[in-house]
Amino acid sequence: MKSSLPVTRFSYETSTLTRLGEILKEYFRRKTVNQEVQSELDSDLLTLLNEDLLQVLVMNGLVQISNERYIWNFLPVYSDNLLLFCDFPRFESVKTYVWLSTKFSGGSWTFARSLPVKKGDHVLDLGTGTGLLALMARLRGGIALGVDINPRAIRLAQLNRDLNSLDSVEFQRRDWNSAKGDQFDLIVSQPPFGFSLGGLGLAFNGGSITGLQTTKEIIQRFNPKDHQILGFFIHVLEDDSHSRFSRLIQEWIRDDSVNIDLQPQYSYPIEVWWQGLLRKQKIDSSFPIPSEFQSYNEVVSYFMYLSK
Ligand SMILES: C[S@@+](CC[C@H](N)C(=O)[O-])C[C@H]1O[C@@H](n2cnc3c(N)ncnc32)[C@H](O)[C@@H]1O
Repeated sequence: MKSSLPVTRFSYETSTLTRLGEILKEYFRRKTVNQEVQSELDSDLLTLLNEDLLQVLVMNGLVQISNERYIWNFLPVYSDNLLLFCDFPRFESVKTYVWLSTKFSGGSWTFARSLPVKKGDHVLDLGTGTGLLALMARLRGGIALGVDINPRAIRLAQLNRDLNSLDSVEFQRRDWNSAKGDQFDLIVSQPPFGFSLGGLGLAFNGGSITGLQTTKEIIQRFNPKDHQILGFFIHVLEDDSHSRFSRLIQEWIRDDSVNIDLQPQYSYPIEVWWQGLLRKQKIDSSFPIPSEFQSYNEVVSYFMYLSK
């Protein structure tokens, strides 16, 4: 197991970060990337960043220098005109990788794209992590607020906002149990699920190990009001009966006038999912599946929209 990462403190001038964001985006737009050419990007990219910008990256802990190589501490991902630093520190310990596709956490980006945001909608993102959902809502014309209990997440979300110069998006450190939902047209969440292993303190950590408990809490607290939509991207442990999840949701809502739109996305055998989880967090692959997961066969991810 790894010990906790230090909480990064960013100290940049917004204008410098915006310039950095523009340079990186321009660079990413011109590239067609696949696995084979990933490693070539390192040196190529570095020639674009002058000393000042590299200093900004280093001073803010976004990049570290090791054996005269620059290594990203956060994984830069670019898609849909949004550049995000995601919390995968030293994703590869030797090479610097730049991921330009939606392959990384593809489900999150697909969910972000699917959000039913209309211009002028007020959007609340519960457990904002990198800020992805709030920032995407802003790009689509919404007025967005992201909240997260983890200070590392809030700092990262603010950095991602400045990198993309989406000034008006607000991020607040707070428990979603203290957030008020009344004035929002759309409330979205990708509740934490199974990522708390090893207590790494990454931006997406926090909450319980299964997404169900947090989804239940959120639904019961923010039951959709008239003309309001609640959207979730959730991973659910399933046994053989796929109706278990929708039955549970009906029990939690207790209101027949709420429409439940459940869209299964993909599924993994539980063992495959577990190994992926260990790999991402660089935990030994022999670490056993917790006993409470063992009676399930697979993990299914859903987009879920509740409306009235
Ligand atoms: C799966 S991550 C969200 C990822 C995010 N949608 C993204 O794309 O980066 C879940 C987030 O919920 C946050 N969280 C967990 N419990 C919370 C709570 N009680 N209040 C607010 N945020 C919470 C975690 O800190 C974590 O950042």
